[in-house]
Amino acid sequence: MTAIRAEFPLLETCVYLNSNSTGAVPRAAQAVLTDYWQTLRTWRDDVWQGWHEGLDRYADGLAAFIGAPPGSVVTDANLSTLLARIASCFDYRAPRNRIVTTDREFPTIPFVWRAASRYGAHLDEVGDGGPRIDQDALEERIDERTLLVCVPHASFSSGATVDLARLVKHAHDAGALVVVDAFQSVGIMPLDVTALGVDFVLGGSHKWMCGVGTAFLYVRPDLAPTLRPAATGWQAGDRALTFQPSTGFAPGAQRFAGGTPYPLTSLISQIGLDLLAGVGIDAIRKHSLACTDRILARAGAAGIPVVSPVEPHRRGGVVCLDVPDGEAVKRRLAARDMICSWRGYLRIGPHIYNTLDEVDRFMDALEDECR
Ligand SMILES: Cc1ncc(COP(=O)(O)O)c(C=O)c1O
Repeated sequence: MTAIRAEFPLLETCVYLNSNSTGAVPRAAQAVLTDYWQTLRTWRDDVWQGWHEGLDRYADGLAAFIGAPPGSVVTDANLSTLLARIASCFDYRAPRNRIVTTDREFPTIPFVWRAASRYGAHLDEVGDGGPRIDQDALEERIDERTLLVCVPHASFSSGATVDLARLVKHAHDAGALVVVDAFQSVGIMPLDVTALGVDFVLGGSHKWMCGVGTAFLYVRPDLAPTLRPAATGWQAGDRALTFQPSTGFAPGAQRFAGGTPYPLTSLISQIGLDLLAGVGIDAIRKHSLACTDRILARAGAAGIPVVSPVEPHRRGGVVCLDVPDGEAVKRRLAARDMICSWRGYLRIGPHIYNTLDEVDRFMDALEDECR
């Protein structure tokens, strides 16, 4: 633990329990930035070769991290871009034109699917406005009209999780594909996309993955060759790096690429990925549950209402608390160098680099501020 903490200079400045919003970045990022500037300062065109290798290494490293084969993950600037590429693969011909989703999504999810309504997509949002995800209600809405089911693995606003194994089976039995927004789970919860048989998984680097500025898409390898994104770019073509006109799409997830990639964010994010892979996701999850258990126990003892599910298998890496005047409380905590976020509820997101002692100090301060 001491060795891991030493990799994150941010921890020297505050109690940082905000990894569900923006994760801490390892100190080795500084060397990558310096090296990047050296590259720009002495620019030659063959740098691109090494940059492409760096981009592929990060994408394949992410694939290994989520139990997927090489070539099944592509990266881009953000999750929204990649989701829009998924949305551009379908013709939404009735009757199978429905997208079933929950009301616990990050705002980009319904935004992208609503935009697809001009092509015939029909968005069906399931939920009662509360913090939990009612998986029975969700599955009841999946039928022969459902083209895609789009769910979070863990909700950004409450930490509530979806049982993906159960959902994928149910959706596939109905002939629907499954898109998972795993931004709030990859890096803090185990996820084996091959074992799940899930069709698409989206995530990003700047929260639990200890990276910056890049997102990723996994596409099920046997599904990818059947898909032709209309929102595309030359890097998705089968002859992209020859600079000849492509004759078709690249195999694998690369067909979900766009234009010229931006390597710096993958190069930096590689450091966090290697660090997390070195610890192992099972050890990370164990530590995360110990920390969130402590938050739940302290909140219970202090009489602070808990919004997140309390059962370990139903919660992700974050605990949300319903604190009166929460936004102001968050600001006062920040003034004491106790960092968390507020999205309707106070969100507390400890990671592998936090200690139980930090959790206790944070909860002491929170109790103090709530008095
Ligand atoms: C669950 C979830 N999905 C998506 C995003 C972000 O999407 P994008 O990369 O398009 O900004 C976030 C947070 O920023 C998130 O918490």
